[in-house]
Amino acid sequence: MCGIVGAISPRNVTPILLEGLKRLEYRGYDSAGVAVIHQNRLQREREIGKVAGLEAKLQSSELSGQIGIAHTRWATHGKPSVDNAHPQMSGTDVAVVHNGIIENHERLRDQLAAHGYVFASDTDTEVVAHLFHYHYQLVNTEPNDERLIRAFRETLEALQGAYALSILHTEHPGALLCAKVGSPLVIGEGSEEHFIGSDPLALLQVTDRFIYLEEGDYALVTRDEKRIYSLSESGMVEVERPIVRYEHGDHAADRGEFRHFMLKEIHEQPRALRDSLAGKFGQAGELLASSLGPNAENILRCVKQVQIVSCGTSYHAGLVARYWLEALAGVPCSVEVASEFRYRQVVVPENTLFVTISQSGETADTLAALRFAKTKGYLASLAICNVPGSSLVRESDYRLLTNAGPEIGVASTKAFTTQLAVLLWLTAVIGQAQMPAASRVELINALRSLPDHVASVLALEPAIERLAAYFANKHHTLFLGRGTHYPVAMEGALKLKEISYIHAEAYAAGELKHGPLALVDEEMPVVTVAPSNELLEKLKSNLQEVQARGGQLINFVCEEAHFKDNDNVTNVCLPKVDDWIAPIVYSVPLQLLAYHVALVKGTDVDKPRNLAKSVTVE
Ligand code: AGP
Repeated sequence: MCGIVGAISPRNVTPILLEGLKRLEYRGYDSAGVAVIHQNRLQREREIGKVAGLEAKLQSSELSGQIGIAHTRWATHGKPSVDNAHPQMSGTDVAVVHNGIIENHERLRDQLAAHGYVFASDTDTEVVAHLFHYHYQLVNTEPNDERLIRAFRETLEALQGAYALSILHTEHPGALLCAKVGSPLVIGEGSEEHFIGSDPLALLQVTDRFIYLEEGDYALVTRDEKRIYSLSESGMVEVERPIVRYEHGDHAADRGEFRHFMLKEIHEQPRALRDSLAGKFGQAGELLASSLGPNAENILRCVKQVQIVSCGTSYHAGLVARYWLEALAGVPCSVEVASEFRYRQVVVPENTLFVTISQSGETADTLAALRFAKTKGYLASLAICNVPGSSLVRESDYRLLTNAGPEIGVASTKAFTTQLAVLLWLTAVIGQAQMPAASRVELINALRSLPDHVASVLALEPAIERLAAYFANKHHTLFLGRGTHYPVAMEGALKLKEISYIHAEAYAAGELKHGPLALVDEEMPVVTVAPSNELLEKLKSNLQEVQARGGQLINFVCEEAHFKDNDNVTNVCLPKVDDWIAPIVYSVPLQLLAYHVALVKGTDVDKPRNLAKSVTVE
């Protein structure tokens, strides 16, 4: 989704801005732009399509300056076009970049038009540019920093919605304004220079020290200082925010030996799982719940019910966890997509733990669901997240971090399996009192064996790659699973559809004869997740139903289950693993299948059409 970069420095900032935009490309966008102040005048370039197109334009225009802002836009208000790309300007003095949505933009547009402002785009962002210009004119003082920041606050107070934004004014070539209301923004610390970014990844080439702006923060940033204020404080009182060192290293630009980030991230899973489980067990195998936050153990002891809320892949992780929490911990669990939950009248049973799951920690619906839940009397909120400084983590009472490292491919892979691993660990923590010691030890051992099992499944890649060609001309696919593997089938279908654009539907295999069986013929590939467990015989009967209708079965099966290949059936055999970790292990071949089908189809694997990595608008 949209990305912001800004810089103020004694050096020319254009290369920093451009590199920042490249690093944000993975998030998905359809146009890009840059504005700098040069000799007290704004210079701007914008282009639709890739950042490379903007780069070419910049080379011929030789745009340079010591202060600037840049943006990748993912169209919401107005189609992708140069006119709608950011930075948006008001006259020749003000330039604005903006992520998120200004909900009251129509009313503001009418008011500003009545004041004589003429609009050159369809965007809500241009409203911010003119509104700031308007307030700046009204603040009747010298053109000093006070005037700038007061006009900024008055502008922010008039805006409704969720946004991050940054503004330049030509009368203040030494000041960068920025604000965060519902959409992430960081200030990067340099030596006699400062940067801003909607994601620290955009700035890792210049700094690893960041201030994560809090909700309602707005700031005036110069080369030497930053003054941060909060909209929740009634006056213009400065607030202190800590500087945090980014500890994941700068992997963003590095695909290593891999052709795509997605493939790299699939292969990183053994390491990601190991790192995500590190520090969660004591020497004697005890579960170290203190990593969740102060007093977490006491709170978790009181949990009588769990409500999980998340989106997309993270929602599928929640669906698997429901089986675990109910079977192993004996705790009732509901799972819901955030976009529905946030608008529902909820009834909250006593002592219900509210759990959000999110790779990015910035998904607008999940964040809104958390904020809504906080008004509803849940026992406590717990965020399961891959980004330590994210809004979701900061706004939750407790946090359970996955340590997968930055995930760049839009299709989530290592984030999913690490979410599952920590959810299984959380199940053991919540169920501690009622689980027999032997089962707990078994579960812990299974979790510890996980990275090795995943590594052995990755070795099956050549066999999975051979299957991919079969899907090249298919338009539809069914994915089947039962029990914990039904959500795994859902995740497999999501992976395939998002990167190969083949329509894929997942069904609980027992539901086949209630409708979807009508779709099955010799043109329909049916992918099945079939580990050896107590539902295997039932699943086999469901597969007979498919075979009898001529469907082509591709089964991911346990090597001990003795499935036989024939003209209509291809089996890929996986090692026998403990039932509880099987959903994690069986997710991996489905990721590889989706990846190789997308390769055959020639799609943009890491940046599939119409999608964004982090969905920061509703
Ligand atoms: C998965 O491959 C997706 N791209 C998408 O479904 C994603 O999982 C969803 O948007 C939620 O994101 P989050 O985990 O960052 O909240």
